[in-house]
Amino acid sequence: MFSKILTSILRLRGGQPQSPSLALMLAVSYTASSFLIVAAITALLYFGLAENLKKLSEQIMADELDVCRALIQARSNDSHALREEVEIDSAVRRYQKFYIRVMNDNGRALFTTPGMDREMSAALIAREAAQQNGRVFWLKAASGKPYRAVVARVSRDSGDKEPWNIQLTMDLSQEVEVLSQHRILIWIVLAVAAILCPRAGIAAARWGTRPLREVSETARSISSSTLNERIRTEGYPSEIASLAGTFNAMLQRLEDSFLRLSRFSADIAHELRTPVNNIRGESEVALARPRTIEEYRETLGSCLEESVRLSELIESLLFLARSESPGDHLKRKRQNIATLLSGVQEYYDAAASEAGVRLQLDCDGEVIGDVDGPLLQRALGNLVSNALAHTPAGGTVLLTAVQQSQQVRIEVRDTGSGIPSESLPKVFDRFYRADSARTRHSGGSGLGLSIMRQIVFLHGGDVKIESETSLGTTVSLTLPSLEP
Ligand SMILES: Nc1ncnc2c1ncn2[C@@H]1O[C@H](COP(=O)(O)OP(=O)(O)OP(=O)(O)O)[C@@H](O)[C@H]1O
Ligand SMILES: [Mg+2]
Repeated sequence: MFSKILTSILRLRGGQPQSPSLALMLAVSYTASSFLIVAAITALLYFGLAENLKKLSEQIMADELDVCRALIQARSNDSHALREEVEIDSAVRRYQKFYIRVMNDNGRALFTTPGMDREMSAALIAREAAQQNGRVFWLKAASGKPYRAVVARVSRDSGDKEPWNIQLTMDLSQEVEVLSQHRILIWIVLAVAAILCPRAGIAAARWGTRPLREVSETARSISSSTLNERIRTEGYPSEIASLAGTFNAMLQRLEDSFLRLSRFSADIAHELRTPVNNIRGESEVALARPRTIEEYRETLGSCLEESVRLSELIESLLFLARSESPGDHLKRKRQNIATLLSGVQEYYDAAASEAGVRLQLDCDGEVIGDVDGPLLQRALGNLVSNALAHTPAGGTVLLTAVQQSQQVRIEVRDTGSGIPSESLPKVFDRFYRADSARTRHSGGSGLGLSIMRQIVFLHGGDVKIESETSLGTTVSLTLPSLEP
């Protein structure tokens, strides 16, 4: 009921600004609309009934007037029939009782239904009729009863005879009584509706929002340790089922990234443990007994090597973590990308000749782009170092850059060992290494391609990798040439 609604409003408000609950809004709108519908229907029925009763009584009056008119016009000399109609027929009626008064042109009553003079005088009817212009009108009699009345002028059978006037009134007490009983009924119906509509509104709102409550309860119970739980989607209305489905999809994504993150943390711990264990092991062995200067120098050199690996790894992880946090990490400058590529070629030239691999650059004309030069060189360096590491002596690594309308396309193509097709989708994963033959110690950390892709994403570009075992690998980067 309304008291309940008010209580809910007060509870919801609780002094703080809070948006109203959906159930409350639904309950109020269901209540209001159902009450208004009931009120409108009862009003329609009432006015329909009143109109029909009015039409019926007007019809009876018109019929009676026609009878009198016919008797006067056709047989004005046969006063017996007219008298019978006016004084007897209407006087004996119990329901829809009417009174008739026939008068000559001087206003003298010729025939009058018994009792009519007591109720309403000829002068009263004539006065009211003068304002109505021949229409049916409403009249209150001396007894207080309501009447509907009409006045008509009727010419008699031969044209030279003066016309007579008829005053016809009809008792409306019964009609008024019926309508007043209906009004009482309507008040009862509205009172019942005022009690039942809020109840029905609250019940409907509760029933309608039940699935939402269930979904939010399940959602509330999900924590990081129960990310595998899902919300039931069957048995709900389609909108809620689709909401639950969307929520489940979000949970799935959260669970995936949560798992990836835990795997990543485990991988980090593992990657850091190896060099730290190496440093510790070599130091312990060296300190186990007295050593020569040469032996200490060798141990220190090896520890330095591991420390360098360790700091490189930490630097890479920090870079990935920073690049994923929101914000613009780029220092873009308009520059010639061919110059950046030739810088990379120069840097890796010595390593390429040592490996017996040709490192070539193919760049026609100027390729201009708004890029962060050092970062892009770092990304390209990772690609070239991968290519050199996987290309046997005698092979070629080719760097190309072309301008394509609004984009710059850079390719690093090698004729190396290639990547097995099952490993291809995973090479951008952190710590992933495709060739298990290359151990963690001898190979890289498996972060190079993820860092490269992150740098390309920061530039708003995209990466594609194609590879065929024993034929070689091509990595293509597409970057927007102008700053977005
Ligand atoms: N050009 C290539 N030819 C063949 N295999 C490649 C090539 N580039 C990458 N790979 C494979 O993809 C894996 C992932 O490469 P990524 O650069 O991420 O790591 P990494 O080179 O092992 O280590 P890091 O680059 O961190 O020192 C490599 O271990 C290698 O197996
Ligand atoms: Mg690499």
